[in-house]
Amino acid sequence: MKIAIAGASGTVGRHVVEAARQGGHEVVALTRGTGVDVREPGTVRTALDGVEAVIDVLNLMSPSGRKATEFFEATSKVLLDAGASVGVRHHVTLSIVGIDRAPHGYYAAKLAQERAVGSGPVPWTIQRATQFHDFARQMYELLRLGPLRLAPRGRVQPVDTGELGQRLVELAQGDPLGLAPDFAGPQEENLVEMVRCYARAQGAAGKIPAISIPGGLGRAQRDGSLLPGPGAVLGTRTYSDWLADQGVRPHGEASTAT
Ligand SMILES: NC(=O)c1ccc[n+]([C@@H]2O[C@H](COP(=O)([O-])OP(=O)(O)OC[C@H]3O[C@@H](n4cnc5c(N)ncnc54)[C@H](OP(=O)(O)O)[C@@H]3O)[C@@H](O)[C@H]2O)c1
Repeated sequence: MKIAIAGASGTVGRHVVEAARQGGHEVVALTRGTGVDVREPGTVRTALDGVEAVIDVLNLMSPSGRKATEFFEATSKVLLDAGASVGVRHHVTLSIVGIDRAPHGYYAAKLAQERAVGSGPVPWTIQRATQFHDFARQMYELLRLGPLRLAPRGRVQPVDTGELGQRLVELAQGDPLGLAPDFAGPQEENLVEMVRCYARAQGAAGKIPAISIPGGLGRAQRDGSLLPGPGAVLGTRTYSDWLADQGVRPHGEASTAT
């Protein structure tokens, strides 16, 4: 089957492409790097010729909730309208677990995207997933106080992006489900420990104090609002597996694996 992947070069998109090709599908990559800006209806309509399913893993990381909302609403509308005009039978969108339980501009943007998909002209599936394993690295890079690194308190059940890519392709092959059961990693992790393990694995020796991020999002992260709901589909790869993949062992010893 011919599958279009919007955001094919991204963190998840690369894995969606790999899973689709392994499954014997023909892939149409929709990224600006391949000459397709998903905000341009004519370009997208041409690119979707013969496509049966669209998987949307586009992203815009912006501190502005308004800009992110405009992006997700506009790109979903273009993909759905173009998809309907060429006979796409299934539109699959990746969203985030807990966005309706945590106040955050980016999460509001993802909710707006979900509404656009739900009211669009193509039968759809929305797959909400938990944070990626890479979330710990992002927190480690982001949270600094002078020379000190900080680890935010939180309950997370991180997911492997390779397994998520496979899940999205499996969904695209099947019938539209509407809102699918959440997709998450195999076990809950303590975000402070994840960040500290990541730091040790990088060879960082200093203390990394735990902090509580103020505000509603920090509270939601701590109270379990971002954990998967009942009936969630779980992957098998753990955070330790991911750390080992990065060429380091969870407890900071260099891996001999190449
Ligand atoms: N991070 C998490 O923990 C997490 C958890 C659950 C769900 N999600 C969701 O996963 C999705 C994918 O995130 P990600 O981190 O994989 O994204 P990413 O690495 O930032 O990649 C974004 C992709 O979108 C493409 N893109 C952006 N603007 C475009 C445009 N105007 N036209 C065409 N392509 C465009 C980029 O390619 P070009 O730059 O070449 O255009 C790139 O391929 C997001 O919707 C996010 O909300 C994330």
